[in-house]
Amino acid sequence: MGDCCEEVVQFDLLDSSIQKIVNKAKAVRERAYCPYSKFSVGAALLCEDGAIIDGCNVENVSYGLTICAERSAICKAISQGQKIFKSIAICAEMKEKFVGPCGACRQVLAEFSLDMDIYLCKPNNEIVKTTVGKLLPLSFNPNWVSFSS
Ligand code: THU
Repeated sequence: MGDCCEEVVQFDLLDSSIQKIVNKAKAVRERAYCPYSKFSVGAALLCEDGAIIDGCNVENVSYGLTICAERSAICKAISQGQKIFKSIAICAEMKEKFVGPCGACRQVLAEFSLDMDIYLCKPNNEIVKTTVGKLLPLSFNPNWVSFSS
């Protein structure tokens, strides 16, 4: 990550609903199916009505069919009737770095909101906050796409 689009935040100072999604993302990460990369990722969405929906990465021997934690959570949420998301917490561990969503996941998140807050978390509760719009500038998104004209 660069230093333009994220801010460091303190877990203890976060709203309790955000603390909950951070904890959920950390917990669901333990269930990641990642025998190939051994890189586990957890994600948790905070929905408009306060519901929390989590997801983890699910790898495949074909590699290319791997589903990231973020898309796993989004697919679960849609199938449960949720489509308005306030925030997502994403937990992974890569030494001193914060792990941001891959390009495919940024696009999938942008489908639902550019304003969605993203909390990138390490297991030790170090957190940076950003948004979908900041991570995907000049995006191709549903707000302005019109296929009918
Ligand atoms: N991965 C995620 O689940 N989310 C991310 O934001 C980055 C990458 C997964 C995909 C794959 O299972 C593993 O991490 C290594 O790329």
